[in-house]
Amino acid sequence: MADTLGVPIPNTVILPSAEHPTDTTGKSFRNLKYPMDWEAIFDYVGFPAYMKPYAGGGWKNVYRLENRDEFWDIHRETGQLVMMLQEEIVFTEYFRVYCLGCKTVRIMQYEPRNPHHARYVLDGPPVDKKLLATIKDYTIRLCKGLGYDFNTVEFAVRDGIPYAIDFGNPAPDAELTSVGPDNFEWVVEEAAKMAIAAAKKQKPGKMNLTWGTFIKDAASEK
Ligand SMILES: Nc1ncnc2c1ncn2[C@@H]1O[C@H](COP(=O)(O)OP(=O)(O)O)[C@@H](O)[C@H]1O
Ligand SMILES: [Mg+2]
Repeated sequence: MADTLGVPIPNTVILPSAEHPTDTTGKSFRNLKYPMDWEAIFDYVGFPAYMKPYAGGGWKNVYRLENRDEFWDIHRETGQLVMMLQEEIVFTEYFRVYCLGCKTVRIMQYEPRNPHHARYVLDGPPVDKKLLATIKDYTIRLCKGLGYDFNTVEFAVRDGIPYAIDFGNPAPDAELTSVGPDNFEWVVEEAAKMAIAAAKKQKPGKMNLTWGTFIKDAASEK
């Protein structure tokens, strides 16, 4: 989807789960071809790499892997989880971006290497305006593509390019104690405005849902 929308992401592959999902057998996945071309996968992603669930959250089961030995050891332990293996982006800046209604954007400087309570950077260095505009544009594209009215998108910046790291967060952390009072105030205010606008737009007796057109609409605006 990110490719379709023109948003850079790290080289990423999706992996078959280490164990068969409940109620399936080796015969259930006839579209998977074995053996996997691990050589090509490791070349494409490189090491160190990140391995994380394809639909994760809260840093659960996120691993930074130094080499293929670590990969084999840890992947084996992930059971039925479907994991992604992803190129590491060694970043100079990192942003967590709220987006409401696929329109309203708040870019928060974030330092994931700090302890939890200190990740939202309140007095960070000034950020290049062009970079912020690109981040806003990419965020809106991704949210439109997903059709998420409520989302956070995380970007790691390498050589001036923001790579989308984590963009499927339809129930993102908005805890006062983690995002801080200003961000919290923003989320509450904008979420209320969005809900009121949606309620006013509702046409009685009509289909008011828009599922199914998101990627097409977002891609045609590229
Ligand atoms: N490809 C990557 N390159 C560098 N850091 C990464 C990468 N993927 C994840 N991380 C680090 O791990 C953290 C958690 O991963 P993320 O994809 O955000 O998972 P979650 O959905 O659990 O928040 C990120 O905030 C970032 O610090
Ligand atoms: Mg994240």
